[in-house]
Amino acid sequence: MEFRILSLLVAFYVQIAHGRVYQSVSDVPTTRSYDFIVVGGGSSGSVIASRLSENPRFNVLLIEAGPDNEGVLEIAVPGYNQDRINDTYKWNYITEPQPSVNNRALEYKRGHVLGGSSSIIDGMLYTRGSADEYDAWAKITRDQGVKHEKWVPPNGGRNITGQFDPRVHGFHGNTFVSLPQSEPSPVDLRVMQNAQLQSERFPFNLDPNSGYPLGVTWTQSNIGNGERSSAATAYLGLQVRQRPNLDIAINTLATRVLTTKSGRQPEIRTVEIAPRSGGDTRKTLTASKELILTAGAIGSPQILLNSGIGDRSDLNALGIDTVVDLPDVGKGLTDHIVRAAVWNTTASSPPPVSVGLTTKKLWSNGG
Ligand SMILES: *[C@@H]1O[C@H](CO)[C@@H](O)[C@H](O)[C@H]1NC(C)=O
Ligand SMILES: *[C@@H]1O[C@H](CO)[C@@H](O)[C@H](O)[C@H]1NC(C)=O
Ligand SMILES: *[C@@H]1O[C@H](CO)[C@@H](O)[C@H](O)[C@H]1NC(C)=O
Repeated sequence: MEFRILSLLVAFYVQIAHGRVYQSVSDVPTTRSYDFIVVGGGSSGSVIASRLSENPRFNVLLIEAGPDNEGVLEIAVPGYNQDRINDTYKWNYITEPQPSVNNRALEYKRGHVLGGSSSIIDGMLYTRGSADEYDAWAKITRDQGVKHEKWVPPNGGRNITGQFDPRVHGFHGNTFVSLPQSEPSPVDLRVMQNAQLQSERFPFNLDPNSGYPLGVTWTQSNIGNGERSSAATAYLGLQVRQRPNLDIAINTLATRVLTTKSGRQPEIRTVEIAPRSGGDTRKTLTASKELILTAGAIGSPQILLNSGIGDRSDLNALGIDTVVDLPDVGKGLTDHIVRAAVWNTTASSPPPVSVGLTTKKLWSNGG
């Protein structure tokens, strides 16, 4: 009798010892209960699922449309040729023609993989917002804590003294941040000198992440140990995946959220999922506490609109029943573009220039 109890316990332990990574919708059980279901495993979803599952009392499911980031060389290597990143890892969006860029339709890169766009975007620039913004959040949340960043030396360990301000960085967080691996070029140094000597519109700024981002400054990147540090590598690493209370469903498309209680304030804790690869096997899952939508600037409003949450007249036109008439959903996206000005010169020494916000190799020897 004792032996049977023991073996039952062992079986139970084995079953719950690891969080699971479900490879497709058909693997996702509808019988497990989750306190939190996080829809979208990108820059925010990875962090939220990871932080929530730090509490062993919460069972958390993270849903991601794309595949796993683990072991994918082309997204782990910083500066990998972007043209060779498999389309599988992107949503492959193209914008409508944009009047402000002479009616060009531009590629609009969004990550379709755990870690979301933080797994694929080539810049990997580490940029905090301005101090005012973070102070406002701290006031609302009454949380002064900062625990995101792990500043590391660049690969090769060159001397970076005087190229950042250690007082404004974290050294014990999850996301790696570092300065470039190579020494600054002569042009970089000249640009920095210029900025320090002249009182310019964009003055020299020792550290762009001090809360005051404007100026000519050193570039900090989400790179550590020579690899991209994405939301997935930082927050869904192998140790986090060992947590018995965190499951991850990949290749799983969230199609809609569903109302569990209708009325003036509908309660929405249910999500409908479907295979990303197509087919009509749909399942619904209900969170006992909260359903958290983190599908990105495009994905979140798309799911809401599919669910009947949006502008009633737009939804009517598509034959979608309105659950909540919220006219702003899916509208008003603004974004910035980056354009580098690069040219060649025949001059035999670096020109005395300072331009824009980032330094760039402007001068090629004898070119
Ligand atoms: C891109 O990914 C798909 C799906 O994983 C795979 O079938 C295909 O071979 C990959 N293409 C390249 C060029 O690696
Ligand atoms: C690093 O550079 C700083 C400033 O240039 C210098 O004072 C310091 O001695 C250097 N440290 C090492 C270990 O070379
Ligand atoms: C600058 O020179 C290099 C090397 O000759 C050449 O490959 C490149 O296309 C040139 N760039 C421009 C903007 O003219």
